[in-house]
Amino acid sequence: MKTAATTAALALTATVTLALAMSGCHKEMTFDPAAITAHSLFAGAPRGFLLGAATSAHQIEGGTHNDWTTWEKEHYPDGRPHVADGASAGRAADSWNLWREDVAALQLLGANVYRLGIEWSRLEPAPGVWDQASADRYRMMFAALRAAHIAPMVTLYHFTLPPWIAERGGWEWEGTPAAFAEFAGRAGAAFGDLVDLWCTINEPNVFVTKGYLSAEWPPGVADPRRAGAVMRALIIGHAQATAQLRARDRVDADGDGRATSVGIAQNLRVFQPASRHPVDGIVASVASSFYNDSFIDAVATGRIRISLPTAVSINESYPAARGTFDYLGVNYYTRERVIGHLGRKDVYRRAPPDGSRPVSDMGWEIYPEGLTQLLLHYAAYEWPLLVTENGLADARGDRRPDFLRAHIYALDQARAGGADVTGYIVWSLIDNFEWSYGFQGRFGLFTIDFAGDPALTRRPTAAVATFQEAARALGLRP
Ligand code: GAL
Repeated sequence: MKTAATTAALALTATVTLALAMSGCHKEMTFDPAAITAHSLFAGAPRGFLLGAATSAHQIEGGTHNDWTTWEKEHYPDGRPHVADGASAGRAADSWNLWREDVAALQLLGANVYRLGIEWSRLEPAPGVWDQASADRYRMMFAALRAAHIAPMVTLYHFTLPPWIAERGGWEWEGTPAAFAEFAGRAGAAFGDLVDLWCTINEPNVFVTKGYLSAEWPPGVADPRRAGAVMRALIIGHAQATAQLRARDRVDADGDGRATSVGIAQNLRVFQPASRHPVDGIVASVASSFYNDSFIDAVATGRIRISLPTAVSINESYPAARGTFDYLGVNYYTRERVIGHLGRKDVYRRAPPDGSRPVSDMGWEIYPEGLTQLLLHYAAYEWPLLVTENGLADARGDRRPDFLRAHIYALDQARAGGADVTGYIVWSLIDNFEWSYGFQGRFGLFTIDFAGDPALTRRPTAAVATFQEAARALGLRP
């Protein structure tokens, strides 16, 4: 008798073989470095193209109290701290107090958009309690950005939950999607006259993978069934939050005729089989459809279809998800080369980079071609695409200029191929608390000496000049 796993595997083998045969996917796309150097950044980009940088609340604000705050103090059973060096976000970049310096940094760049988070645990420290003083501070930030001709793009959920939600079971608590939607509606009503661009959820797939499959992030679970259930809850939470935002933010802040533009920021990766062995292909394909597509598919079809062979098979109608993207946000960093092992616990393994390309400080392969591939692929859906994150961990700061140039080239290639890409947002504006890497992952266009400089001065890295060149090309700087 065939097990469910073998049946799934056989069906997938057929699909993957066909897909490989049709796409010639083993032929690798490779950019010519001379073409990148010669390229004029954003040539032919439409008027209103967005260029900016991103951060998130917990990573920069300092003084937050949420589920990560607890996690950061704890250790794995083997004694290792949850965060490298036993660090915690603590004061982080102190943007709660130093936010004017962040605005000044954006002005120096010539950005016209800033993607930042609002911290749910600050605004709603207890169920139904709204902290007006925090809301006032966010309003000051948004007004200052508007005065500087920088559109605030606001993320509502970027990996951190208020303790009162976490205590009830986080995204596994049946009340969480509705509580999140209520928070979104309140934010829409409180900030809607200053904010049109909303991102409900940052990287639902990264959150589910790290929090519920690999146990690296809170709540530290490794259970595919629970991962599937949480992905489902995130889809429902997003759909309900979008409805609330659309109902309660009725003010068109920038005069373009639309009061809201809502979407998510989805981490997208190119999953490539590490070899021609069919099992690598099968596992890469399963990973891609779970990771890249589960959420997006629900919004495109109004059905929640989440599957992980032998563990998760959700397939249900959920029409409320349909039409809840005004744009698809794409966070792009790297590709994964996949080694598969059917029937083993570690069915999925990431192959180490093959050495043919440089890697970031965090070991992520630099693969700009992947951005073109993904933008062209996802352009087939109905939404405009906005690159909501792209960046490099590079503590020395000397490789980031080339990284930006290559990825803008990649984006322009996708546009030339017909993809409707409406903007490019760099991760990150400033160095910040990089989750389990603590302060080791340095992504900032502006660097901060957390240990040695109590003033936390934002100091420009070499990539600021590259960004300014891009801003000039778009007419955002003289
Ligand atoms: C993304 C995430 C950001 C930042 C970045 C760099 O996955 O949204 O918060 O950490 O990666 O690792």
